[in-house]
Amino acid sequence: MRILLVASAFNSLTQRVHTELTDRDHRVGVELALGDDLLRARVRRFQPDLILAPMLTTAIPEDIWTEYPVFIVHPGPQGDRGPSSLDWAIHEGATDWGVTVLQAVAEMDAGPIWASVPFPVAPCGKSELYRTEAADAAVQAVLLAVDRFATGTVEPEPLDYGKPHVRGRLRPYHGQQFRRIDWSADDTATVLRKLRAADSQPGVLDELFGREFFLHGGHVEDRLRGRAGALLATREGAICRGTVDGAVWLPQLRPRRRPGEPPTFKLPATDALGPEPLQRVPEIPISPAEAARRNTWSELRYREEGEVGYLEFAFAGGAMDTRQCRRLLAAYRVACARPVRVLVLGPRRDFFSNGIHLNIIEAAADPAAESWDNITAMNDVVEAILTTTDKLVVAALVGNAAAGGAMLALAADEIWCRASVVLNPHYRLMGLHGSEYWTYTLPRRVGAAEADRLTSTPLPVGARAAEALGLVDRVMPGSVTEFWTWARSEAAALAAGPELAARLVAKKRRRASDEAVKPLAAYRAEELEHMRRNFFGPDEPYHRLRREFVHKVRPPATPAHLLG
Ligand code: COA
Repeated sequence: MRILLVASAFNSLTQRVHTELTDRDHRVGVELALGDDLLRARVRRFQPDLILAPMLTTAIPEDIWTEYPVFIVHPGPQGDRGPSSLDWAIHEGATDWGVTVLQAVAEMDAGPIWASVPFPVAPCGKSELYRTEAADAAVQAVLLAVDRFATGTVEPEPLDYGKPHVRGRLRPYHGQQFRRIDWSADDTATVLRKLRAADSQPGVLDELFGREFFLHGGHVEDRLRGRAGALLATREGAICRGTVDGAVWLPQLRPRRRPGEPPTFKLPATDALGPEPLQRVPEIPISPAEAARRNTWSELRYREEGEVGYLEFAFAGGAMDTRQCRRLLAAYRVACARPVRVLVLGPRRDFFSNGIHLNIIEAAADPAAESWDNITAMNDVVEAILTTTDKLVVAALVGNAAAGGAMLALAADEIWCRASVVLNPHYRLMGLHGSEYWTYTLPRRVGAAEADRLTSTPLPVGARAAEALGLVDRVMPGSVTEFWTWARSEAAALAAGPELAARLVAKKRRRASDEAVKPLAAYRAEELEHMRRNFFGPDEPYHRLRREFVHKVRPPATPAHLLG
C-alpha cells in the first residue's frame, strides 16, 4: 500500500512505524504537519491508500479525512480522549494503559476503532514510557489496523461507552494547576508521579531561590533526609530535595522564559542554578558499584554476575556531555580492571546514546570549543572500548541510538539489540562529518559502499534491517525485561563458553594487524580535521542546525529525505 505518515515531528514513534511499514514493503512517505495547505498538496501528489498519523498534535482537515481513510494513533485505551493521555495515566498511578488506532472523524479521538493494544505502565517518565512500552503497543496496533484495513472486509468498531471494555473517558489538558508540587504536603510517591507525568515535557513549574524553573526528571533517594522542599545535596549535575517523607533527585531544570527574553532549554540542574545558590549544598558522589546496590540517583551503575560485568549508563535524552563522557570513561576503566571476561555496556532502559550534548554546547560561552571538548571526550570513551583486548565487549541496545551514540555502539565486539530499536547511524542532520572512529568501525561492519549510503541518507534503520546489513549482530524481540533476561543468559554463556579464549586471542591479533595497516590515531586525526572545520570554520551549518534542534524550531517544509 501507499501509506502517508502525517506527524508533528519525525519522532521516535514515527521513525519506528516508518521502519516497520517499510520492512513490510509498503511505500511509505512522511509529511510533517506544518499547515493544512502543505498537507493537501502532499496528499494530492502522494495519492495514499491510507493516511496514518502516529504522533499528531493538530487536527487533519475535514476535506482530507472525508476523501481518504485517516488513522490516528492515540496513546490511550479505548474511549480515552483528550490531549494529555499519558500525563493523566501516570498522574493517577495507572498500572496498565493502552494505545488505540482510530479513524479520524469530526470529533477528536471519537472515531471508530481499528485496533487497540494494552501495555503496562513502567515506573518512569512519560517520554521514556512513550518511547518504550507505549511505542511497542502502538506499533502492534498500527500493524493490526493496517492489516485489517488491507483485507477490505473488516469494519472498525464504533466507539460505544456502553461496552464494558471501553473504560476511557474524555479528559482535559493536563495543565500546571494539576502538576504543581506542594512540598509541604505531597509525599515522595506523589512528587514522583507529578514529576514523571511531566517528563520530559513540559516539566513541573516550581520556584527555587526566588526564580521560576520547570523541573525535569525525578528519582527516589533512599538515605538523604531533610526539610521538605530544601536542597540537600548535588550529584552528577542533579539536585536532591527533601519531601515530607523522604527525598527526590531532580536531574534537569529549565528556567521559565520571561517575556522578551530568549527561549530557554533544559540543563543539568546545577548548571541551571549556577554555583552561588549551591555554595552550602554538599556534593555527594557515589561509585557506580555502590549505585548499583542502592535506590538512589546515578547515571552510572556497575554490577557483576559471575564473569560478566554490566556497566549501565543512563543519560537524559541519550545526550553525553564532556563531563558525562569523562565519568563514563573512568567507570569503564574501573570495570576493565575487574576480573571479568565479558563486559556488557548499555542502559537498563531507553536511549543507548544520541552522541554529544547539544544543549550543553548551546549553553556554553564558546560553543565551538565545547563541541571540541565534547567530541574529544566521546572519542576517548570509544578508543578505550576499541583497545580493550582482554575482554569481550557487548553493546546492549534496549533503546534507540543515533549519530555519535550509534557509532559508540560500533566500538563493541558485538551489538545486541531489542527488535524495537531504531538506529540513526548518520550525522547529516547536524551538518557534521562525525567522529567516534566511525570511519574505522562502520565500513568494517557493513562495507565501504553501505557505510557511505548509511551516513549520507539520514533515514532511520530498524533493528532487523540493521541485522541484515551486519550493522548489529543479534536482535531479540520482546519487552525490556525479556530482552535483559535473554541478554544476561547469553552473556553468561559467552563468558563460560570454551570458545571465548580463542576469540580474545583473535581479537587481540586483529586489533594489532588493523593498527599496523592504519593506526586508530590516524582515523581519529582525519575525522577530527573534518570536525574542526565543522566547529570552527566559516559558513558551516552546524551551529545554526544545533541551535534549531535545541530550540525545537520547526522546519518550514518537510525535509526532502522524508518525502519517500
Ligand atoms: N543533545 C542534546 N539533547 C538531545 C540529543 C543530543 N545529542 N539527542 C536527543 N536529545 C534530547 C531531545 O532534545 C529531546 O529532549 P526533550 O525530551 O526535552 O524534548 C530528548 O533528547 C529526546 O529526543 P527526541 O528528539 O524527542 O527523540 P526522538 O527519539 O524523537 O529522536 C533523535 C531521536 C536522536 C533522532 C534526535 O533526538 C536527534 O536527532 N538528536 C540529535 C543527534 C545528534 O545529532 N547528535 C549530535 C551529533 S553526535
